[in-house]
Parts: sequence; structure tokens; C-alpha cells
Amino acid sequence: MTENKTPKESVTLTDNSSGKSIELPLLAGTIGPRVMDCRSLYSQTGHFTYDPGYTSTGSCRSAITYIDGDEGVLLHRGYAIDELAEHSDFPEVAYLILKGELPNAEQKTKFIKDITYHSMLNEQISFFYRGFRRDSHPMAVICGVVGAMAAFYHDSTDINDPHQRMVASYRLIAKMPTVVAWAYKYSLGQPFLYPQNDLSYAGNFLRMMFATPCEDYKVSPVLEKAMDRILILHADHEQNASTSTVRLAGSSGANPFACIAAGIASLWGPAHGGANEAVLQMLGQIGSVDRIPEFIKKAKDPNDSFRLMGFGHRVYKNYDPRAKIMQQTCHEVLNELGIKDEPLLKLAVELERIALEDEYFVSRKLFPNVDFYSGIIFRAMGIPTQVFTCLFALARTVGWIAQWNEMLADSEQKIGRPRQLYVGSAPRKFVPMGKRA
Ligand code: ACO
Repeated sequence: MTENKTPKESVTLTDNSSGKSIELPLLAGTIGPRVMDCRSLYSQTGHFTYDPGYTSTGSCRSAITYIDGDEGVLLHRGYAIDELAEHSDFPEVAYLILKGELPNAEQKTKFIKDITYHSMLNEQISFFYRGFRRDSHPMAVICGVVGAMAAFYHDSTDINDPHQRMVASYRLIAKMPTVVAWAYKYSLGQPFLYPQNDLSYAGNFLRMMFATPCEDYKVSPVLEKAMDRILILHADHEQNASTSTVRLAGSSGANPFACIAAGIASLWGPAHGGANEAVLQMLGQIGSVDRIPEFIKKAKDPNDSFRLMGFGHRVYKNYDPRAKIMQQTCHEVLNELGIKDEPLLKLAVELERIALEDEYFVSRKLFPNVDFYSGIIFRAMGIPTQVFTCLFALARTVGWIAQWNEMLADSEQKIGRPRQLYVGSAPRKFVPMGKRA
């Protein structure tokens, strides 16, 4: 990790109530805004900071992903997302995110082999699925199954052993396609398919999703490529809600499977990974191009809870670079599949055009995010809406586990424990039942 220690700069804060001034050092990373090191604030002043939603708070040092939200830049280990999406593939990006460097040919072959040979689930887990209702939301199922993996893979739960941490990381990356595909198969009442080792990561996933034991299944190279690219685009995204959840859960020493299950739970929300599902529901609700103005009006109304799903981002105040690639992939997939005049795509393109010209969205810097087009691609591929967020979780597992490993190797890591501004009752005497109002 690079940190610029010179020149030593600081911020002086004056506490008007006591008249005392304190110096807080400024820390500089490789690129990006400097951060004020406020670790000594409480001991020096007796005050905490107040920052709901952590809008101004850096929670850790990280060398994995860099985002410049104003410029619409996303880098993994220094490499731009568009270059990775164009020239790389998901296993290579997973290796990069997990280990810090692009693999050479030999390292890549070994990594793919190691991942491939961890993709089967313990057979007992197939019975675990049967405890769920068939109509369960697949996110509920994968959250439960991933959490339960700690009960099956005891030999990779010692977080103090770097080897066990890496085995757990490989297991999670390798088994997630199986976990997600089985959740889908379970919902259909179809038999589970085992992984097939001569297929690519994306191809194997598509086969486990769509094949049946009754006939041969040929993976479409177009869909395989599109799926691989979608996985790259979702692989990591710095300290977002689910990643921070994984780090927070892991900071107490929880095992990796429990931590990733916590990340899946956080991702499920419609303000986060659940947005790709919500976009399609919204497009369905809008229904036709002529109703767009009505919904734009609703989105702008402060008294209406409706939001334009797939629009806006905490960090990007410019076009999300992933959304651009996703839009292009969407056109490619629909073309290749011969889907012409897809009404939802037409609706999405028009909605985006209208919103990007509207003063409300322009002034708030609300642009399409990664979820805006991904749902349309998934739908064209035949993936049901409820499985969309599971695909996001599948891809993001590599980012979560890389961030978890980084945290455990960080000597500054402590249990995550925010403080609060207490606004409840002041101390008062217990009131016996007979004297209560
Ligand atoms: N539609 C309408 N108005 C919006 C939207 C939207 N999608 N997003 C933000 N705004 C408005 C807010 O109402 C607020 O307006 P105000 O200044 O008049 O009060 C202003 O823009 C700023 O929004 P915040 O909610 O303060 O921004 P925040 O950073 O907290 O929220 C979030 C970001 C949660 C992503 C938000 O934009 C949103 O809900 N978007 C829709 C859901 C979505 O697409 N989520 C996916 C995010 S990407 C991902 O997780 C992979």
C-alpha cells in the first residue's frame, strides 16, 4: 500500500466551547482526496464525529479499488474498468482483485484449475436446499446456503491462518455459481446440475442455470462472453454498503462464510444490489413511453417515495463507467439474440434521455448506474427477475473476499464499533407498574 507521508500536513480545529485547538494529520493515498486522521479526536477533545451514512468517513486503507465519482473513473488495482472489460476475462480480474497483480499465463492456468476444482458443493448441501419453500426469494436461499457453508467447510474457518483464508476465498469464488444456479433450479423444481470442468466460469454457470439432465446443452458464446463481462463489471466497488458490511462482520473475527452471507443480506436491498430487479419492475410499471413524464414527475416529488431505480449513486456524480459498458453489452446481446425492438430497452433508452435533460436530475448529478441496463440483459438471457441480484452477489463475492482478506492482514484493523449521538431519555428512576401512566 502506498501512502505519501511527506510533506506532513494537518488540519487545525478549534473547539469554540473550550477555546482549545488541536492538530489532526492529513493522510495522502496514491490518488484521490486526502483524509483527515481523526483517531485522536475523542481523546483530545471529548467529541466524536457525526456522519450518518458515512458520507465523509474513510473507514479503512485499501489498495483494491479506486473510484473518482466526479470523473466517472473506476480502477481495480490501478487498471481502468473499461480496459479490463474489453481485454480481460472474469477469472483474470478475480485474480487481480484478490492478489493485486494480473496473472502471467502459468498463474492464470493454475488459478482457473484451482477454482474449477473447488466448484462442487458438499453433497449434503443439496439436502439443505430442500428445507426452503420452493417459492422463496433466491436471495434468501443463497444467503442461508452461504452462511451454512461454515458448517460444511470447517477446515477453512480459522481466520488467523492465511492458508485457510485463501482456501475459503477460492471455495467461495468457485462455489457461488453452483450456489446461485441451484437456488434457481430449486425454485423451478428441476434437478440440480453439477459443475462441468471443461467449461469456462461463465459458461459453466449458464449451463448449471439452463441445462437439464434430459438433453445436451450448448453454451452460446455470445451469452458466455456477455455473462463474463457482467461479472467483471460487478466484481468490486470499494467500500459500498455490502462490502462495508462484510468488513464490519469480519472485524469481530467472524468466519468468511458468515461474512459473505452478511454481504449478501446487505446487497439485497433495493437501494443497493436489489436495484437491478427494481429497475425491471419500474419499467413494467411505467409500461409505455408516453407514461414516462408521469413517472419523472413522481420521482421529482419530495412527497412521493418513488425514485427512478437505476439512477443516482452515492459516489458517482457523473456517468457510472460500468453503465456505459452495460448499455453497449445490452445492445450487443439483443442484436445477437435477434431481439429487435425490445419494448423495455426502448423504454429505458427514452427514460434515460428524458431524465438526463431534466433540470432535477442534471442539478443533482443523477446519472444511470450499473443496474439500469443489467436487468434488460439478464431478461434477454432468460434469467428471471428474482435471480438478478443473485448474479450481482456471485460476481461481487470476489470483491468481498478480497476486501475481507485485506482487512485481516491490516495491522491497523480493529473491531468496527461506531459511536452515536444519544437522543433518548436522560437518566430517570424506575417507575413501578402501579404508578405508570
Ligand atoms: N430518483 C429520484 N431522485 C433521486 C434519486 C432517484 N433515483 N436518487 C437520488 N435522488 C435525489 C434525492 O431525493 C435527493 O434529492 P434532494 O436533494 O431534493 O433531497 C438527491 O437526489 C440526493 O440523493 P440522496 O438520496 O441524498 O443520495 P444518496 O447518495 O444517499 O443515495 C442512492 C444514493 C441510494 C443510490 C439513490 O440515488 C437511489 O436511491 N437510487 C435508486 C436506487 C438505485 O438505483 N440503487 C443502485 C445504486 S448502485 C448499486 O448499489 C450497485
